[in-house]
Amino acid sequence: MSASKKIAVVGATGRLGRHVVDVLTEQGHDAVAFSRANGVDIESGVGLVEALEGVEVVIDASSTPSADKDVATEFFRSAAKNLHEAGQKAGVERLVVVSIIGIDGSVAGYNAAKLAHEVALLEGPLPVQILRAAQFHELVEVMTQWGTQGEVAYLPNMRTQLVAARTVAEALVALAVDPAPESTDGPFPEVAGPQPETMAGAAATLAARVGHPARIEESSDPANPDRALFENGGLLPGAHAELAGPTFAEWVEANFPAAN
Ligand SMILES: NC(=O)c1ccc[n+]([C@@H]2O[C@H](COP(=O)([O-])OP(=O)(O)OC[C@H]3O[C@@H](n4cnc5c(N)ncnc54)[C@H](OP(=O)(O)O)[C@@H]3O)[C@@H](O)[C@H]2O)c1
Repeated sequence: MSASKKIAVVGATGRLGRHVVDVLTEQGHDAVAFSRANGVDIESGVGLVEALEGVEVVIDASSTPSADKDVATEFFRSAAKNLHEAGQKAGVERLVVVSIIGIDGSVAGYNAAKLAHEVALLEGPLPVQILRAAQFHELVEVMTQWGTQGEVAYLPNMRTQLVAARTVAEALVALAVDPAPESTDGPFPEVAGPQPETMAGAAATLAARVGHPARIEESSDPANPDRALFENGGLLPGAHAELAGPTFAEWVEANFPAAN
């Protein structure tokens, strides 16, 4: 095991962040949990410099609930700026941040905001390592809830190589505790699940396990400029990606009791 490090986790209460805290703690590191609930606001910067005292590396797993491109872009740009400024003042060595596989051509919504996030992060001054992840297993339930109308859930036509948030957390922690690479040239590292799936197919697997909603339908939104990216495999990992289980079906079986 690597020597114990003091590592801050921004978004420590989120779907991903809680696993990052667990993995760090299990490996004997000093995980400092940041979220607004414990007085650290990455968007406004309130509490950030003080909370970063003695922190060597920051893992940023924070997010905004807004899928609006402008609102989310504002959040991520402010977060990047505040993290760099406060991190530099506090003597942080580097930032490790999670992003999303396949967003290069995104022009709409949350994915376009994450692209702006990457650009803002790379402006420095601190060294940054960006890990791009596939959609999380945990997102399927959320998207099913968003899309449910009565007995039917409408899921976007989307090809994705779903991955467990815990698996992404392990990959982020590995980046944070390993020595910084000499060069970050080349594509961003990627982490994804073991096999390509469709969002609607995954939602159907989950619905079959928990007993609702009664029907899943795949829908295609002609008004979404990122539609082709979603539908034609643009969100699938590259050849260099780290692929790791569990599969979505295995994860559902382990995390949801079967319907009676
Ligand atoms: N979900 C996916 O499928 C997926 C896939 C690939 C990459 N990612 C990336 O993974 C990251 C985490 O996503 P997630 O789904 O785990 O997010 P999430 O569950 O929505 O969690 C967001 C976290 O950010 C914190 N937060 C929100 N506003 C904050 C603020 N102003 N200051 C400090 N903390 C704040 C929240 O805590 P408080 O509300 O208490 O502040 C919470 O802990 C995001 O960058 C996302 O783009 C997600």
